[in-house]
Amino acid sequence: SDPNLVARATAAKAALGDRVFVLGHHYQRDEVIQFADVTGDSFKLAQQAAARPDAEFIVFCGVHFMAESADILTTPAQQVILPDLAAGCSMADMAVLGQVQTAWEHFEDLGIAGETVPVTYMNSSADIKGFVGRNEGVVCTSSNAKRALDWSFEQGSKVFFLPDQHLGRNTAVLEMGFDLDDCVLYDPHKPQGGLTDEQLRNARMILWRGHCSVHGRFTLDSVNDVRERVPGVNVLVHPECRHDVVQAADYVGSTEYIIKALDAAPAGSAWAVGTELNLVRRMALAHPDKQIMFLDKTVCYCSTMNRIDLPHLVWTLEELVAGRVPNVITVDEETAKHARVALDQMLALP
Ligand code: 13P
Ligand code: SF4
Repeated sequence: SDPNLVARATAAKAALGDRVFVLGHHYQRDEVIQFADVTGDSFKLAQQAAARPDAEFIVFCGVHFMAESADILTTPAQQVILPDLAAGCSMADMAVLGQVQTAWEHFEDLGIAGETVPVTYMNSSADIKGFVGRNEGVVCTSSNAKRALDWSFEQGSKVFFLPDQHLGRNTAVLEMGFDLDDCVLYDPHKPQGGLTDEQLRNARMILWRGHCSVHGRFTLDSVNDVRERVPGVNVLVHPECRHDVVQAADYVGSTEYIIKALDAAPAGSAWAVGTELNLVRRMALAHPDKQIMFLDKTVCYCSTMNRIDLPHLVWTLEELVAGRVPNVITVDEETAKHARVALDQMLALP
């Protein structure tokens, strides 16, 4: 990256010292990751944000829903900053509070709301987390989805899983032994989700029709193709991938899991990795003794993660040095109060 920008970021960070704490999600660009005080998956970053009450400013190099969660978990005196306000998440945008409330009211009319536990993936807006907290549910991430579902099925006999259908289905079917038929897909753009009352009554998992557009690009063909090209390859994917892709893979896990698996892999082994490209490239560079490749033939960055680049980080840090606080992410206290219940429930999972 531009040496001048590197020098400016270094100087601004040094001038701020312990007043600033920079968090970097694994999907961030290398030019940004080099300035992160801690890197992690979304679960680790939520924990880390909560563990730094002394830092005045939390600069979150990630996407909007992560910064919102950090704001909810930090003290009122701390400010959470997103270096580019346009760094959103298309999956999080697929669940809007009004639509979710409409679905829930329908479940109430049917008499199934009482037995249904709402679970939302971290990749959702604070509004959705607030809804889940108000209705005694839990937040999960890709590294604790099974534990969150185990807990939820102790509280009720059904789960309403938001917004990632794939994480919900993959966890229920591949990790908990559910049948595919135990899961139904609720489409917010269809009346009553496109489901009959009977389907809703019989389902154990009601999955919201949301997905990650980045992980959605990996297909069964990508898996078959790499197995043909690279004999003995290990296929390692994120659980946001489609069900058939995860089923055909050898290993599945969160970004933190993927890193640990690649770190531990023996020299000479071959790995096709189905997750965001910044992470896969970084791992390939870090392990030249292993053959680490991207699962798909086409490149596939998360365009919103990529919006946070070094110029945005430099601007953010220099503004802070100048005494201005840009791009503060704040969740209103009423929403935060309920969302915190659902996040704390996640952090307390065994
Ligand atoms: P994790 O950080 O939980 O692996 O999730 C990946 C992701 O898509 C974040 O947006
Ligand atoms: Fe959202 Fe997918 Fe990008 Fe993660 S990788 S921020 S889920 S669009």
